[in-house]
Amino acid sequence: MDIYKTLQERRSVRKFMGDPVPQDKLERILDAGRLAPSWSNKQCWRFIVVKDPERKEKLAESMPESNPARKAIGQTAPAVIVLCADPEASGKQDGKDYYLLDSGLAMQQLMLAAHAEGLGTCWIAWFDESRVREACEVPEDYRVVALTPLGYPEKDPSPKPRKELEEIVYEEKWGNEISSK
Ligand SMILES: Cc1cc2nc3c(=O)[nH]c(=O)nc-3n(C[C@H](O)[C@H](O)[C@H](O)COP(=O)(O)O)c2cc1C
Repeated sequence: MDIYKTLQERRSVRKFMGDPVPQDKLERILDAGRLAPSWSNKQCWRFIVVKDPERKEKLAESMPESNPARKAIGQTAPAVIVLCADPEASGKQDGKDYYLLDSGLAMQQLMLAAHAEGLGTCWIAWFDESRVREACEVPEDYRVVALTPLGYPEKDPSPKPRKELEEIVYEEKWGNEISSK
């Protein structure tokens, strides 16, 4: 699939059909994450693929009931990917922790690849880290950065609005509107 089409079409998916994710697709998606750039190429990330219904339920229980993706994790998605990262294996500069960026880039690549494979994902950050850690036996030196459900979308969600380019891009210096040339 064309990269721009993938970028335009990807949505956060929170309702899934129960069908399992084929292993070849899963491996290609994980490989897309593996190929991401990272601080000094340290690749501080780890991905845990969870399919066991009881463990998925434990992951759902780590999320507040008002989290709109809770049901996807516990019930509808056939798989969940837990994104972990080792902060010590990445860099820190001027108070910026690059493990979050490294692992976020890997997850975004994985999510775009999932869409190109006809599968849905949703970045989830609102959960109790200690409960995810316990459910998946994540060691203390790793942070749990995000979860995503993975599966065939029940339907294509409608697009969420984005700011216009003019609102977010400046030319040469802060506040200077970009010329249309
Ligand atoms: C850092 C981050 C945290 C998020 N946490 C959650 C979450 O806990 N639950 C949820 O349902 N969606 C979560 N989302 C998904 C956003 O709500 C979604 O990306 C946004 O509304 C734009 O919609 P779109 O992804 O369909 O374009 C999160 C997204 C990001 C980037």
